Amino acid sequence: MEEIQYLDWNNSIQILNKAYETDLFVLIIGPKGTGKTALVRDFAKNKNVNLVTINFSLRTRESHLIGTKTLTDGTVSFDEGVLIKSMRDGDMLYLDEINAAEADVLLRLDEALDDRRQIGLKESTGEVIKAKESWFVIATINPLTHSGTKELPPQILSRFPVRIRLEYPPENIELEIIKKYVSGKHESEIIQAIKLANTLRQAAAVEELFYSPSLRETIAFGKLLDKGMSAKEAVKFVFGNVYTQWGNIEYQKVSDIITSMFGD
Ligand SMILES: Nc1ncnc2c1ncn2[C@@H]1O[C@H](COP(=O)(O)OP(=O)(O)O)[C@@H](O)[C@H]1O
Ligand SMILES: [Mg+2]
Repeated sequence: MEEIQYLDWNNSIQILNKAYETDLFVLIIGPKGTGKTALVRDFAKNKNVNLVTINFSLRTRESHLIGTKTLTDGTVSFDEGVLIKSMRDGDMLYLDEINAAEADVLLRLDEALDDRRQIGLKESTGEVIKAKESWFVIATINPLTHSGTKELPPQILSRFPVRIRLEYPPENIELEIIKKYVSGKHESEIIQAIKLANTLRQAAAVEELFYSPSLRETIAFGKLLDKGMSAKEAVKFVFGNVYTQWGNIEYQKVSDIITSMFGD
């Protein structure tokens, strides 16, 4: 995928820079598709540092972070996990959706993230790994309104004293962002799709709908128009059909909104 420059519409880069210079770890809070990953990638690229990403889920194990013992030709060795490697190498570590991690995983993270920036390898030799000076950590969480998300324990929260809030951008900014990915030939239809997305986001915010479309969807819409799809079709495939997942009433509710904005 081509690397697209992050449009810094709310001054996040400046805050990241200040946090980086003062060695304060950063937490980015925002719903899916608001540009969290795009921001971190762009920041790491500008800093010219190696970015190591962990996407957390309920299935992320301690061993993934710390490492595992392996047996080759009768010799036991320790295969270091991503957390340990990033500390040794002084990489930028990106902990994506950290609130999806299980308690035991968070406990080990907590150990590494405290002010000493070190962790004991109790799994192998007991060696204490101290992070290289340049080691820096950025984490993201989704707001709790998203089903399936858990609250991040306060002591982990406190490891990230700089908190950036990302929201869906204002209409004109969203249009500018989409134009980074598409031709710009279909501006009026794209503006209409942004308006639709915002209507659905607002309905989801007050729990009238189960799903909130992100920038991923408005960008996808623009890309389909570039491929010659009509706006009415694209709107159905990108915004409408997904609501079938929550049954016919939900789907019909959204279809009515779509019809009122894009016609029959
Ligand atoms: N400010 C921005 N500048 C450039 N692209 C953006 C911006 N915000 C969002 N995007 C794009 O929108 C899509 C979703 O963003 P992403 O970073 O994956 O969101 P998140 O990590 O919050 O789920 C990606 O294609 C991303 O590149
Ligand atoms: Mg992301």
